[in-house]
Amino acid sequence: MRQVLVLNGPNLGRLGVREPEVYGSATFEDVAGECRAVARKLGLRADVRQTDDETELVRWVHEAADGRIPMVLNPAAFTHYSYALRDALAMRTAPLVEVHLSNPAARESFRHNSVVAGVADGTIAGFGLMSYRLALEAIAELVGPGEPGGAGEAGEPAGAGEAAGAGEAAGAGEAGESGGMGQPGGAGELGKPGGAGFR
Ligand code: DQA
Repeated sequence: MRQVLVLNGPNLGRLGVREPEVYGSATFEDVAGECRAVARKLGLRADVRQTDDETELVRWVHEAADGRIPMVLNPAAFTHYSYALRDALAMRTAPLVEVHLSNPAARESFRHNSVVAGVADGTIAGFGLMSYRLALEAIAELVGPGEPGGAGEAGEPAGAGEAAGAGEAAGAGEAGESGGMGQPGGAGELGKPGGAGFR
């Protein structure tokens, strides 16, 4: 079963007690359990982690790049200012979906900019726990169907260049591109079958 890393940045371990009027009442363990269950239904194995430490988060991103592991990432406050995280993510070798529980665009102005968005396939924000669910569905689409016998496992460029599965969304996320990525429709441009070639 293909692995997906679900990475979470600072203060997300405090979910449940942290500003419940903004982030809801679900604890981090609730979020993690839901992610694992949703991933399993999608044929993915979710490895859900949280850290308050930028260094550790960057190391996990390197691990994902080395293992060609797709990521769902809630960078939390790092979203808005961590160029170290952005630079690490720019080395990614598999799909990346940025998620937020709240809708940062509707909050304080310092939350309006994401330094991560430009290196992600797309961003899902504002839907609480559902943001994670939708992000995992996007990852499942982007990596395409895992096949018995290994295709789709970490280490293989699953579905790269294939018409099926990764198809529509694939052109979307060429590493290094920014703007419009991850938008259904803006994706799959003619002449870009399979996109970046690392899926
Ligand atoms: C957050 C939004 C960020 O602005 C904030 O710093 C967080 C959580 C979210 O999930 O809504 O810690 O990423």
